[in-house]
Amino acid sequence: MSHLIAPSILSADFANIQRDVEMINNSSADWFHVDIMDGMFVPNISFGFPVIKAIKKHATKPLDVHLMIENPDRYLQTFKEAGADILTVHLEACNHLHRTTQAIKGLGMKAGVAINPHTSVHLLIDIISDVDVVCVMSVNPGFGGQKFIENTYHKIQSLKEIIRAKKSPALIEIDGGVDLNNYKKLIEYGADVLVAGNTVFSSSNPTQTIAELKK
Ligand code: DX5
Ligand code: ZN
Repeated sequence: MSHLIAPSILSADFANIQRDVEMINNSSADWFHVDIMDGMFVPNISFGFPVIKAIKKHATKPLDVHLMIENPDRYLQTFKEAGADILTVHLEACNHLHRTTQAIKGLGMKAGVAINPHTSVHLLIDIISDVDVVCVMSVNPGFGGQKFIENTYHKIQSLKEIIRAKKSPALIEIDGGVDLNNYKKLIEYGADVLVAGNTVFSSSNPTQTIAELKK
């Protein structure tokens, strides 16, 4: 399978959200990456359900919703109704991760688990067979445009071994600081999905930058 590109809407122009959604629709991107922050799990607040619904109204590609919120179980159904196709929760934010991933799948969405830079991929061994996507954070979550953490390469390798050993279908998604200098190496190490916010939206030609990342 060729790798997937998920532009992060966090770096889009919210005054022109329809224009930016159409740009992604008409690009070689595969998913919309939608970052939800609650000001508790991370030191920032992004946006909520009305904005997701507005994106969904125009999007022709799946919505990959990344929840950086505490106790996400409260809102799984509401995110489904807002338009999430893939719903990712943080391992660090869930007391009963297996229950949460089962609930996400029960609602008809793909289930993702995200891990912070300090969290070992080995904590995923007993859940890996039940998840569709592992989102490896390559920055500390909360903000776009941060510097990529180099230890991520090593984590991809270890995670790939776990996925193979457990014969899991899980995709490895890399989120944070992905750019035109590191994307090839990330794919070589085994990344399946690359999230890119700042790299896409700060570029003079976002459509072309997505095409480059897709090469
Ligand atoms: C960070 C978010 C990321 C962010 C990535 O907390 O989870 O998805 O939008 O942005 P860049 O690509 O700018 O690092
Ligand atoms: Zn994200």
